[in-house]
Amino acid sequence: MRILITGGAGCLGSNLTERYLEAGHQVLVLDNFATGHRGSLPEAHPAMRVVEGRVEDRGLIEQLFAEFKPSHVIHSAAAYKNPDDWVEDTRTNVEGTIHVVEAAKAAGIKRFVNFHTALGYGRPEVLPIPADAPARPFTSYGISKQAGENYLAMSGLPFVSLRLANVTGPRLAIGPIPTFYTRLKAGKGCFCSKTVRDFIDMDDFFAVMDAVMVDGAPTGLFNVSTGTGHTIKEIFDVVVDHLGIVLSEPVPEVEPGADDVPAVVLDPSQTIASFGWQPRYNFEQTIRRMLAWYDEHGVTAIYSHLKPPPAQA
Ligand SMILES: NC(=O)c1ccc[n+]([C@@H]2O[C@H](COP(=O)([O-])OP(=O)(O)OC[C@H]3O[C@@H](n4cnc5c(N)ncnc54)[C@H](O)[C@@H]3O)[C@@H](O)[C@H]2O)c1
Repeated sequence: MRILITGGAGCLGSNLTERYLEAGHQVLVLDNFATGHRGSLPEAHPAMRVVEGRVEDRGLIEQLFAEFKPSHVIHSAAAYKNPDDWVEDTRTNVEGTIHVVEAAKAAGIKRFVNFHTALGYGRPEVLPIPADAPARPFTSYGISKQAGENYLAMSGLPFVSLRLANVTGPRLAIGPIPTFYTRLKAGKGCFCSKTVRDFIDMDDFFAVMDAVMVDGAPTGLFNVSTGTGHTIKEIFDVVVDHLGIVLSEPVPEVEPGADDVPAVVLDPSQTIASFGWQPRYNFEQTIRRMLAWYDEHGVTAIYSHLKPPPAQA
């Protein structure tokens, strides 16, 4: 495959890039390094090109499609850093998505895979949230990502949009798992918000990606999750146990903030039925695999397992 990965230097994008290069595919990464890092990708690889640029730069997108001629697009670029920056989120998540979709249409690509957030569902009425639950986003990130997904869904492209649970894996540096790990190791205090989330292991995400990238596979909107929710306190307990820490007092548990969603758990049943996919790792295995990665590499470690290309070996 010739795969264009927008946001390819990010957590998911860099893990996918590494995997596709190992499998012998050609990869073009486009990233503005807003939240991704150049160092997450191999320094050089004969089958990889890395372009620093923005998805909302229409001229650049058209140029990259003309030069690289992708057969597949993975649209992983997203802006979310500043919840008050509606303009940046709109530029990246709406305008950028439009340009990538239009270029993909003009190029006649085989598959377009988009990543969407559970925040598109807003405050769900039913748990676990089925993939056909109404979209009721209420944040800049959720609304702009939802608009991008809506545009894609109307495009006529052979597309899949994956609404993702929290994916854990190499280089994950945000969220409760790295936060608890880092703070507890440093002897610092923590607190747990009384919220419930679902987590999925990177290898289970890879298995979904393998299924959805196949020509002629089902298209549409799919949840990617184990379907089981767990409290933030449960994560805390696994980290405490993993580090062998004896707490002098119980961790404070705080009510979720007004802008927080108390429980987000996605229902993957339609994805399981459509692709014959099954998550392999349960909650505790997923968290412990993440912690074992931090033990080996550290929380902010940015590196690639890729062997250097022959010229540099
Ligand atoms: N990781 C998860 O658990 C998760 C959960 C739900 C949704 N998602 C979605 O998956 C995708 C990847 O998420 P991630 O966790 O890898 O995040 P990430 O921040 O690591 O990756 C996003 C990448 O997009 C890049 N980017 C931002 N604005 C850009 C722009 N204008 N032009 C080009 N590149 C730009 C960033 O620099 C970064 O490398 C996003 O679309 C996100 O909404 C991820």
